[in-house]
Amino acid sequence: MSYMELKNVSYRYPLAEEDALKSINYHFEEGKLYGIIGENGGGKTTFCDLIKGLIPSFYGGDLTGEVFIKGKEIRDWESSALASTIGYIFQNPFTQISGIKETVFEEIALGLENLGVDREEIIERVTKVVKQLKIEHLIKNNPNKLSGGQRQRVAFASIIAMGTDILVIDEPTSQLDPKGTSDIFEIIHLLKEQGKTILLVEHKIDLIAEYADEVLVIKQGELITSGTASEVFSDVDLLNKGVNIPQIALLSNDMKEQGQPFGTFAITKSQAMDQILKKGSEKICQ
Ligand SMILES: Nc1ncnc2c1ncn2[C@@H]1O[C@H](COP(=O)(O)OP(=O)(O)OP(=O)(O)O)[C@@H](O)[C@H]1O
Ligand SMILES: [Mg+2]
Repeated sequence: MSYMELKNVSYRYPLAEEDALKSINYHFEEGKLYGIIGENGGGKTTFCDLIKGLIPSFYGGDLTGEVFIKGKEIRDWESSALASTIGYIFQNPFTQISGIKETVFEEIALGLENLGVDREEIIERVTKVVKQLKIEHLIKNNPNKLSGGQRQRVAFASIIAMGTDILVIDEPTSQLDPKGTSDIFEIIHLLKEQGKTILLVEHKIDLIAEYADEVLVIKQGELITSGTASEVFSDVDLLNKGVNIPQIALLSNDMKEQGQPFGTFAITKSQAMDQILKKGSEKICQ
């Protein structure tokens, strides 16, 4: 049984003339991080909404094919059970904050409250997560008055407190500066270490190269390519399809074209460093 699987999934929004997702097949394994990339309007958020069970229940429209989450077809899941299995961090951190709670602590507790978790357990879980994410200093603040980076960390805290096994994270760093971005990736790394299965939409391609086990490229609703990050990014032809490629992958490709290929195709800085040092020591030994 695969952990999550899409079988020939197509979806069309109400009144749309074209499918937003077209015959998608994929299987996801537990504990891996999947990077979802592709140009704007390609269907990445639609894909996330589908996994989260918002399609078609919330958006309407026509869904065909099957989506299995932990072996059970998504239409057979109770929505509350799905909510405690899959956490969703939305593309826009402003929509994530409820707007009805006066402190960050209460905001983080909200999802657990909705699930009917005991008060004591809520306090325990929220206290743990604010420590984990280093936001203890914010717990008394008004959630509506946070900076973009703080909001995003609170959004993560709310989801992590729910303790879901699967996380769908849609462009978490698009509004953040480099420091805010690296804080968020530190959290994502931590979640991966904890064995969560993560679907991450992210335009910052170097970070996808570094953190993703597998990469899915979506263009005009189609899954045009997928595989391990190295497999996907060693195809520099993707550039012609509007897909960004890590700078290091371009360097690896240039080395290959110069007749000086690296032993393995590097897509991250540290992989390239290894290869360069290896080449250096081979030269010295000759
Ligand atoms: N609620 C909706 N109703 C109708 N069409 C929609 C709706 N949401 C998205 N679409 C359309 O579906 C297609 C895919 O959009 P989607 O938001 O999934 O793309 P995306 O890859 O997330 O883009 P971005 O990188 O800009 O976030 C687009 O053509 C978009 O216009
Ligand atoms: Mg989107």
